[in-house]
Amino acid sequence: MKPTHLFLSSSLAFVLSAAAHAEDALMAKMPAVFERASVQYKGMLEKVESDPNLPRTIKPDGSVLTVKPEDWTSGFFPGNLWFLHEYDGSPMWKEKALAYTRRLEVIRHFKGNHDGGFMLGCSYGNALRLSPDDEHRAVLRDAAAALATRYRPSLGMIQSWDHKPFTCPVIIDNMMNLELLTWAAKNGGDSKLRDIAISHADQTLKNHFRPDGTAYHVVDYDPKTGWIRAIYGMQGADVRTPWARGQAWGLYGYVMMHRETGKPEYLDKAVSFAKVLMNHPNLPADKVPYWDFGAKPGDDTPRDASAAAVIASALVELSQIAPDGKPFLDFARAQLLTLSSPAFLAEPGTNGGFILTRSTGHLPAKSEINVPLVYADYYFLEALLRYRAIVKGEKRIHFGQVK
Ligand code: GLY
Repeated sequence: MKPTHLFLSSSLAFVLSAAAHAEDALMAKMPAVFERASVQYKGMLEKVESDPNLPRTIKPDGSVLTVKPEDWTSGFFPGNLWFLHEYDGSPMWKEKALAYTRRLEVIRHFKGNHDGGFMLGCSYGNALRLSPDDEHRAVLRDAAAALATRYRPSLGMIQSWDHKPFTCPVIIDNMMNLELLTWAAKNGGDSKLRDIAISHADQTLKNHFRPDGTAYHVVDYDPKTGWIRAIYGMQGADVRTPWARGQAWGLYGYVMMHRETGKPEYLDKAVSFAKVLMNHPNLPADKVPYWDFGAKPGDDTPRDASAAAVIASALVELSQIAPDGKPFLDFARAQLLTLSSPAFLAEPGTNGGFILTRSTGHLPAKSEINVPLVYADYYFLEALLRYRAIVKGEKRIHFGQVK
């Protein structure tokens, strides 16, 4: 009796799941999007074959701009190769992903700023998820220990940057790097690394948000007194306006920190933050934000596809842990469909080989405006893979959860 019953249930599950895919517009589009991503990245790999560095964006002449391992974006290209391998299981992508990941071994003790989580979590963290190896674990533990040297006990926070005019600046982006610490605390690193991550997230919750729930980019502290010296708009339009990618980092950071710690205040923040962004009056109907939520809406105002991709990835995860997750998944699906449309998805052979067009890096510095950015591709692919796992009923392990 039992085996027959099991056989019937799994057949039924397959039929139901196939029917669900047929009705799901994003699932229907996904093979074509990954095919496009694959064509683009194969083309880019050929373009950068003899270059020892890692792709970040394009130059004004359309050629690929690559960066050294010390650049904060260096981990995303290997991460994207891992995601292409995760999608189709191809050994070719795995071989490339491993080769590009290993280029970052030289920064395993990187202490230059807070970005070690981006650089090594997105490269070696995905390597560990998809090709477990003690060497990956060792690199990640070293990277976490190096990041923790930036912890300032008097503030209970990690110092993000060392440069002037700041004294002890903490940027909202820093939330993204805490997953490296929580992972290490569970995997042979010092258990204090988890306390550091929690303390940083708690202090950020206290000091980094406007009364309307949006996040500042930079809060500069005096480590002697613990007081806030100044708050800066920096990559945003103004200290009073919400820089789009900063909001995305903050949202993703609190979703991830809730998953990593179970602390209810992080989930509350993630839910309220998501609602503020989803209902923002300046959000275009296609759900890809302008580069700053306070920027004047209009066709000439640059968008930031990278912010949309980070928000979508965060919302897909949030949809699985929030008490009423459906609106978050619906919103993320809409964003991912927009990003998968010709309005944002690069035509084959264009865009330097990157997948998404129309991101904005640092507009006030007149840098990287309306261009492809490797991290837009990263969070787009991650969001799609997270979404696919949910629809297919598969368990997809996040970096922070992998052993
Ligand atoms: N973490 C730097 C940026 O988002 O531009």
